[in-house]
Amino acid sequence: MSDLSIPKPYVRPRRLRRTDAIRDMVRETMLTANDFIYPLFVTHEKNTKREITSMPGQFQLSVDNAVKEVQLAKDLGIPAVILFGIPAEKDNLGSDTYSDNGIIQQAVRAIKDSVDGISVITDVCFCEFTDHGHCGPIAKGTVDNDATLELLAKQVISHAKAGADMVAPSGMMDGMVAAIRAGLDSENYEDIPILSYAVKFASSFYGPFREAVDSAPQFGDRRSYQMDPANAREALREAELDVQEGADMLMVKPAMAFMDIIRQVKDTFDLPLAAYNVSGEYAMIKAAAKLGWIDEQRVMMETLTGLKRAGADMILTYFAKDAAKVLRG
Ligand code: PBG
Repeated sequence: MSDLSIPKPYVRPRRLRRTDAIRDMVRETMLTANDFIYPLFVTHEKNTKREITSMPGQFQLSVDNAVKEVQLAKDLGIPAVILFGIPAEKDNLGSDTYSDNGIIQQAVRAIKDSVDGISVITDVCFCEFTDHGHCGPIAKGTVDNDATLELLAKQVISHAKAGADMVAPSGMMDGMVAAIRAGLDSENYEDIPILSYAVKFASSFYGPFREAVDSAPQFGDRRSYQMDPANAREALREAELDVQEGADMLMVKPAMAFMDIIRQVKDTFDLPLAAYNVSGEYAMIKAAAKLGWIDEQRVMMETLTGLKRAGADMILTYFAKDAAKVLRG
């Protein structure tokens, strides 16, 4: 050893990793419960709490059970939930989405009536509500972009009327943010912010979600409206359009395979940025943990911390309650 005259390191990063107290002192990224948005699946059925097979710990909830879940989230310090709906009837237009008695409208009213101090965000799309499973009405074998814009405006007005605090369009239609802003403003909902799924990729990580809400497309796929996972420049262009159209916050989705996109959007725009840690990302961690191959709690915290470090100000995650409990100690 000594013969090799290897120089002794003068700079030693390990000095700052020596004790818990020092590691705590130099930690750069801090996760808090305030970073989470908790997605919930609300079904039209009564008295229901049905676990989703591919998403252990997540449920299809009847309205009364959804209210209880929101209260639990609020008690854990989670600032917002986002609602997805399973309607009684699906049709070509997804008309449940803009009916005052639609499942989302019922859920929003019930939650706002009984839980204070937590924001209710509505996912604004059609795929859970159309009989064909696409994100807008079909014309000539594909989603009719401009016809969808009008229906989106009707949908958000109806959500706002029910009491939604924020709307989150996820359909990747061109012009959707401008259409929604115009719709809301025309009914004096100027104060309702838009969290735009600005950069949403056509991803296979959505598999378990489609089981959860029975929204798999009945023909074709979503690649003519959601983005190609290979494209980063296009992601910035999509985000820029939504900023111009009046988005208040941006989202990148999915999260784990797209952390470079999260970072680039964060560095390019100064709007608050959300990342969606989607159903397949949740399912993979759950499945590997169940097999005993990884430590679920540590992998969960490492993933969420990584997303925040990559630039997410907020994380939509099915782990919200579990992670908030860990953070509470
Ligand atoms: C569409 C929507 C999807 C998700 C959220 N909003 C599915 C899709 O585009 O097929 C997926 C969320 C997840 O996988 O957790 N309204």
